[in-house]
Amino acid sequence: MAGRAIAVVRIGERAYAIGDTCSHADVSLSEGEVDVDSCEIECWKHGSAFSLETGEPQTLPATRPVPVYDVRVVDGELVLTVENDR
Ligand code: FES
Repeated sequence: MAGRAIAVVRIGERAYAIGDTCSHADVSLSEGEVDVDSCEIECWKHGSAFSLETGEPQTLPATRPVPVYDVRVVDGELVLTVENDR
């Protein structure tokens, strides 16, 4: 079973988890910058910003979303839920 890379972002008491690979090319989104006001992460390679809530790209050149995962803060710890692919 192949692993998957997930970028986890915590903004205050809220946490977000999205697929770490940009949908435009094989680039790690976790190396980009987070905009806490718009709740987006920006791909460092070409600048597409992805919503941390939906995974949808908000700017070009990326046009496809990245997956989002359920993550919660429970007693100060992050609990990430990843369902198996079918
Ligand atoms: S590789 Fe992410 S926007 Fe191009």
